[in-house]
Amino acid sequence: MKTQYYAATSLDGFIATEDDSLDWLFPLGEVGQSSYPEFIAEVGALAMGATTYEWMMRNADKVIAEVGSAWPYRQPTWIFTSRKLPAIEGADLRFASGDVRRVYADMQAAAGGKNIWVVGGGDLAGQFYDAGLLDELILQVGSVTLGKGRPLFPRRVLSPVLSLTSMRQIGTSMAELRYDVHKTALE
Ligand SMILES: NC(=O)c1ccc[n+]([C@@H]2O[C@H](COP(=O)([O-])OP(=O)(O)OC[C@H]3O[C@@H](n4cnc5c(N)ncnc54)[C@H](OP(=O)(O)O)[C@@H]3O)[C@@H](O)[C@H]2O)c1
Repeated sequence: MKTQYYAATSLDGFIATEDDSLDWLFPLGEVGQSSYPEFIAEVGALAMGATTYEWMMRNADKVIAEVGSAWPYRQPTWIFTSRKLPAIEGADLRFASGDVRRVYADMQAAAGGKNIWVVGGGDLAGQFYDAGLLDELILQVGSVTLGKGRPLFPRRVLSPVLSLTSMRQIGTSMAELRYDVHKTALE
């Protein structure tokens, strides 16, 4: 069982534009060409921040067009927020705030031996990293640059460096890079 940050990023390290658009991402490739189908099959619980959740609410029509319902995940999902946000119908949601370690045991139990997917944003993935709970980064690196936007992973990871475990080309618009996190450095 691993805790994984699986995200798509621009070549210059942004996961969304400054105004939270993902329109740059969708033309880059089909979900079916990526590792996503195998990845999501092994996920037992998800975590996401409020901005990511609000993107899902704002773009329900796009999500419905893609997967047929306003919420694409059947796994329990923890939404980190300091606010009271509305629930999306059909979604198994748990709202949480503060230290990610406080809910991690519940996430593990709910995941039932499967992986935990930290969907994003970058700082939430950083909070799991800071707590020594992040095992892996799986990055779909698009062949575009955004100049500015929401950062992929706003942390300094210098020594030991992340460990590159695989690289895969997906057409000419994407590359998938996988990195293991050296957790001993955090102890
Ligand atoms: N390209 C990709 O693969 C990908 C993946 C994920 C997301 N995205 C996009 O990237 C953008 C990410 O936005 P973002 O960087 O702002 O990150 P985010 O993690 O989605 O949202 C950040 C917000 O979550 C809440 N939050 C985070 N940690 C918390 C904690 N421990 N306790 C309580 N609240 C907490 C805070 O909001 P409040 O305090 O206001 O509630 C915070 O401002 C979104 O547009 C999303 O759609 C892209």
